[in-house]
Amino acid sequence: ETACELPNVRVNCIPEGGRSETEDVCLERGCCWAKEETPSCFYPKGFGYAVDGQPADTSTGKTVNLTRKTGQPSQYGGDIKTVRVDIFYETSYRLRVKLWDPRKKRYEVPLPTPEPQGQASNPLYKVSISREDSFSFTVQRTSASRDIFSTATGLILSSQYLQLTGILPSDNIYGLGEHAMDRFKLLTNNSVLTLFSRDQPPNPDKPGQNLYGVHPFYLCMEQDGSSHGVFLLNSNAMEIELGPLPSVTYRTIGGILDFYFFLGPSPEAVVQQYTEVIGRPFMPPYWSLGFHLCRWGYDTANNTLKVVERMRDSGIPQDTQWNDIDYMSEHLDFTYNTTTFAELPDLISNLHSHGQHYVLITDPGIGSTQPRGSYPPYDDGVTMGIFITNSTHQPIIGVVWPGEVAFPDFTNPHTQIYWDKFVSLFHSNISFDGLWIDMNEPSNFVPGSLDGCPNTSINNPPFLPGVYHEGLIDIFGIIKKTLCMSANQSASLHYNVHSLYGFSEANKTMRALEKVLGNRSLVISRSTFPGSGVFGGHWLGDNESKYRHMQNSITGILDFSLFGIPLVGADICGFSGSTTEELCTRWMQLGAFYPFSRNHNAIGEPAQDPAVFSNDSVASSRDVLLLRYRMLPFLYTLFHFAHVNGSTVARPLFFDPHSNIFCSSIRTHYFILILFLYSHSTVPIPLARFPKDQVTWDVDQQFMWGSAVLVTPVLVEGATSVEGYFPPGARWFNLRKGSEMTSSGHVALSAPLDTIPVHVRGGSIIALQEPNTTTTESRKNPFALLVALDDNQSGEGWLYWDDGETLATFETGTYSLLHFSVADGNLSSSVRHSGYTELDNAMLHLFTIYGLPSQPMSVALNNNPVPESDVEWNEDTKVLNVRVSLTDLNQPFTLTWK
Ligand code: GLC
Repeated sequence: ETACELPNVRVNCIPEGGRSETEDVCLERGCCWAKEETPSCFYPKGFGYAVDGQPADTSTGKTVNLTRKTGQPSQYGGDIKTVRVDIFYETSYRLRVKLWDPRKKRYEVPLPTPEPQGQASNPLYKVSISREDSFSFTVQRTSASRDIFSTATGLILSSQYLQLTGILPSDNIYGLGEHAMDRFKLLTNNSVLTLFSRDQPPNPDKPGQNLYGVHPFYLCMEQDGSSHGVFLLNSNAMEIELGPLPSVTYRTIGGILDFYFFLGPSPEAVVQQYTEVIGRPFMPPYWSLGFHLCRWGYDTANNTLKVVERMRDSGIPQDTQWNDIDYMSEHLDFTYNTTTFAELPDLISNLHSHGQHYVLITDPGIGSTQPRGSYPPYDDGVTMGIFITNSTHQPIIGVVWPGEVAFPDFTNPHTQIYWDKFVSLFHSNISFDGLWIDMNEPSNFVPGSLDGCPNTSINNPPFLPGVYHEGLIDIFGIIKKTLCMSANQSASLHYNVHSLYGFSEANKTMRALEKVLGNRSLVISRSTFPGSGVFGGHWLGDNESKYRHMQNSITGILDFSLFGIPLVGADICGFSGSTTEELCTRWMQLGAFYPFSRNHNAIGEPAQDPAVFSNDSVASSRDVLLLRYRMLPFLYTLFHFAHVNGSTVARPLFFDPHSNIFCSSIRTHYFILILFLYSHSTVPIPLARFPKDQVTWDVDQQFMWGSAVLVTPVLVEGATSVEGYFPPGARWFNLRKGSEMTSSGHVALSAPLDTIPVHVRGGSIIALQEPNTTTTESRKNPFALLVALDDNQSGEGWLYWDDGETLATFETGTYSLLHFSVADGNLSSSVRHSGYTELDNAMLHLFTIYGLPSQPMSVALNNNPVPESDVEWNEDTKVLNVRVSLTDLNQPFTLTWK
């Protein structure tokens, strides 16, 4: 009885809700009932497992044995009686806690993670185990003696239900995807987020609804500005509830409870530590950072070409043209329609001869009803035994665009041979440069399969996470719009590996493309899982042509930055519904700053390629994309650091608000961390400063590129100004004009329809290149350096440069890496690596310096005076332009002014 009065957090004992929510059911479960409370039925104190014996030390940490406390089964039965808890002190900033069944092998996610090597000395954390009432553990940040995760009552590990609640130090929680979030910072009002990959377009009115990808990772900002991350390595359907205490409750229907804790302490470090476990993002080819154009329903190759030509005529940059399923013959993969798309090979040659690229869609479902012998992708798949099978070991058949289809099992190693073969055969006809992989949740237009699914607890699990999040128990439950959970895959039952489908397909697709092309390629996947960033990028799925969707896309982009998938974008101008010229103009401006910048449209909607609109709109799109192209060397450099260090590309403002108030204990740890990272990597780490400005923690209508550029898009219809937040303590300059902002904090900016406000932070140096309408052309142009000085007249920045397409340039050393720094009128480059010899011939033609107090008397390059005619000073904006002809950037240079 007393137990019911005192649990420190009320964990819902009837999570399925609905009709089960009665006192009788509650008491039957051994839980406490308080009708007026939320939740009304909760676990008593001490519900869970008892510690068995003493925790033992191991070479990697600690191990503890647990025994279930009562004989009474937990709510869904099948309790695991004894549980092993293994605690790994993996590194000073990374801790792993794994709860599993030592008696019976259970499914574990086949994601390669670092093998524990001994025990970290001087960890930033401490783990304590409590045996009071029942087993619990607490992770503490030692420097602040702050508990960052402390487990509560209600621990359950049973056959198809695993539950754990953690009490959190702050309600500033971000991440946990994929959802259609209105805000970046998550709500902790008992909001329930479902994670289970599903073909579900984002709907901001149902923010907890599970979408295409699964990312059980959150980042938490502690009150003093330190940050940590928590990752549950589990791929089963799950629900995560964020409670007001604040607390987090995980409810997953399979696997084990395998947690990683990342101690940061900066948010940027947390993401780096996370991708060290799940895998660093791939290095995208340079062209993939250009502008992409796509739609469903060009209908013919010639129509596609007409749009490409319209783009060329308009002078709007475009690197890549895409085709959707309308290029296929009967929607069959690895075919093209030789009537409507007869000119497809010509279209691609035309693109290639203009230095442009071509990407097309591939869906996983392989048509299964073609006459035998006429469609090798199906016949070979059967012979090779690579399809997912049903309970009688026949390929399981669903329905997607081509009609009846079988699904390759991408967790099967043999599927690589199969996929390589068809990607390569198809490529010999249609020389695409990348693949867009869609419908890979996997999506299926009939529930389970054409033959239904066996009625077992695998297809009807006793607990169904809020997969549809509509409070209705759907009669099809978990199998709706996908395959039977009982289907067999090489790695495990579909039940366990469902949410890995897109991840495993991206892996095999990128491998196949790299072999066929012998170069870097592009994979854009709809469904993703932790580690997907290693194999490609992501777009945010079937959004709508509405302002609200444009606004929410920023949260989507920032989420995927946290998830280690920096190459991300939303369908610019919106997928379904009809756009308006104004919406599309604004969205083109915002989309020019998506790391992955693609305009895509649904079938039957009016054209929305940027060249179709009025001259004013065309001018705006051209101008903003030319700005993007000018900034591509900087963006590419950010992707390099993402690839080698796991740093973010598009970044929330709070990752780097440049507050000048530092907490000394945090600074010490940060310093240690930086030292550690320096000593463990071959390239220097760009320093991010430490977030203390709590106003920034809620900012999700602006975002940064790295720590240098702040984008403040207009997201409201009819608006000609926009309010942005500019953290005090930094100088902010209008990126285009160089004028300095005279105030900080919340500032209203003028933004007529042709303008998106973009600012550069004082203290940054960014590498630019004169733009052109393709990256093939812009890469031939001279570089420029934009130097924005901070209050101390100093700053720094980087350029990573290589040929933009060869595989593994960093790993093989065929790149150049330059560091730029400025202090006291002395700007110099330091060549950290000069393996890309082409840079010998590159030219730098302009230095632009923002933030000088007054006009310098003289300027010199490598000690040679720069003629006055090449120096231009603007007294209004205090911008200095210095024209030079500097070649051989693999050699250091200095520019000085007095
Ligand atoms: C899906 C994709 C969408 C694509 C369509 C047709 O809805 O998400 O981008 O255009 O299928 O292939």
